[in-house]
Amino acid sequence: MKRSTQVVDAVGEAGADDAMVDPEDRPVLVLDLGGQYAQLIARRIRECNVYSELVPASIDPEEVRRRGAMAVVLSGGPASVYAPDAPRVDSGIFEVGVPVLGICYGMQLMAQELGGRVDRTDAAEFGRTDLEIIGDDSELLVGLPREQTVWMSHRDSVVLPPEGARTVASSEATPIAAYENAERGLYGLQFHPEVVHTPSGMEILRRFLHDVAEAPASWTPAAMIDDQVAKIRAQVGDAKVLCALSGGVDSSVAALLVHRAIGDQLTCVFVDHGLLREDEGANVVDTFGDHFHVPLVHVQAQERFVGRLAGVEDPETKRKIIGEEFIRVFEEEARKLGDIRFLVQGTLYSDVIESGGQDGVAATIKSHHNVGGLPDDMELDLVEPLRLLFKDEVRRVGAELGLAEAMVWRHPFPGPGLAIRIIGDVTEERLQIVREADAILLDEIRKAGLYRDLWQCFAVLPTVRSVGVQGDERTYAYPIVIRAVTSDDAMTADWARLPYDLLQTVSSRIINEISEVNRVALDLSSKPPATIEWE
Ligand code: XMP
Repeated sequence: MKRSTQVVDAVGEAGADDAMVDPEDRPVLVLDLGGQYAQLIARRIRECNVYSELVPASIDPEEVRRRGAMAVVLSGGPASVYAPDAPRVDSGIFEVGVPVLGICYGMQLMAQELGGRVDRTDAAEFGRTDLEIIGDDSELLVGLPREQTVWMSHRDSVVLPPEGARTVASSEATPIAAYENAERGLYGLQFHPEVVHTPSGMEILRRFLHDVAEAPASWTPAAMIDDQVAKIRAQVGDAKVLCALSGGVDSSVAALLVHRAIGDQLTCVFVDHGLLREDEGANVVDTFGDHFHVPLVHVQAQERFVGRLAGVEDPETKRKIIGEEFIRVFEEEARKLGDIRFLVQGTLYSDVIESGGQDGVAATIKSHHNVGGLPDDMELDLVEPLRLLFKDEVRRVGAELGLAEAMVWRHPFPGPGLAIRIIGDVTEERLQIVREADAILLDEIRKAGLYRDLWQCFAVLPTVRSVGVQGDERTYAYPIVIRAVTSDDAMTADWARLPYDLLQTVSSRIINEISEVNRVALDLSSKPPATIEWE
């Protein structure tokens, strides 16, 4: 389908030549009708190199036009279109003149709005479902296997497609599993193309984006970088900018982007609180100072932190002390640097979405977790170069900027560091034990090629000791607990099924190489009810 002139007019001259257009100026807007996969749809569209944003379903059609949207996607939703408080869209959305793809609830809503009908039939389908393509001229489905598996999750069904649309796929229980009105650019899918359980899903999305909506595949890491660099320059001018570098992926990529944009107007402050993993401090200094030549202040504050933690056993008190001390150190350094106007923050798009997208809110939502957080009274403006990016895009940008693979794929590491993996008192000796155990564990996990399969994997040092025997001697030493989890977002997690042989190697090495340890245990708890970290 050709885009209507309405849209081309709305974006003016630039709209005529897609190659010249900033992808962000021509987004595909995903209207969030409350479905659990709404965010995933936007991510999948971006995987097709088309810029996409999640927006409230209540968006005004005029706003869709003003944004120069290439297409609109109506997400799934938990509701029935007949529920009293069912989310709706303004029917003017269908008149904007850009293609609309309705998925699941979105497909039903579109049918209901445009002269079709939705019923609560007895045809609820959940999970893998066989789909049959009907006819051979569906723009989205032509040429795909006539019979295939798709992922369904619905109770209501469309029983009459929108006026002028025809049915292009059926399942046994749902005769209208997909419909199209190519002339008006309306497409409805009862199934979910965005989930991996629909093998043709990405191909269907690509066809909608590239063929139907004619959206170019121009949202690439290089484009993301160019775009952010221009924005940072415009925001910052010639002011000085500060970044608290933790060595994690987000702050690293944010710092590199800002450095690419404004060079030595940026200073990074890396506070080494002595609660880091083996070689971590040296890696940060090598990477940023030596390799990328980013102006870097490496604050060696190990004694200050460990000193303040002496005798503290309560987890929350530990976190609080570390947080306060971090801010104190950071402020001292900032003061030394003089006239700083901006602070870099690694806020991600998922944080923005979860906080409702309002400006300024995202900066604070993780405060309880954010030991690298900003002092409240510094009154610095925020530079948030990752604000539009999903985590996987941050990694792609990091790789494009030349960040080493080991940095790009780093597991998350909590701000309070090893202090919350040492139960009870944090001392230099106990830090050393957990640090060595952690290094052995990660070494073996990497050798086994499992690092990327895990969300996190680390060693925990409890307070208890137990009896053992080594050589002819009785020992009374600490156990190390291995914590390895799989997760998508850290909100929930499952314990990882590590191979027995690997566990065996890790256990022998930890006990043989660390004299203060005589036992290794494995944490078999999921989150909830446990958390990922122990404190
Ligand atoms: P929990 O233990 O709550 O952790 O299941 C969820 C995720 O958050 C990380 N985490 C932190 N990250 N500062 C951080 O930057 C913190 O204080 C902090 N505490 C936990 C944890 O590693 C996991 O990925």
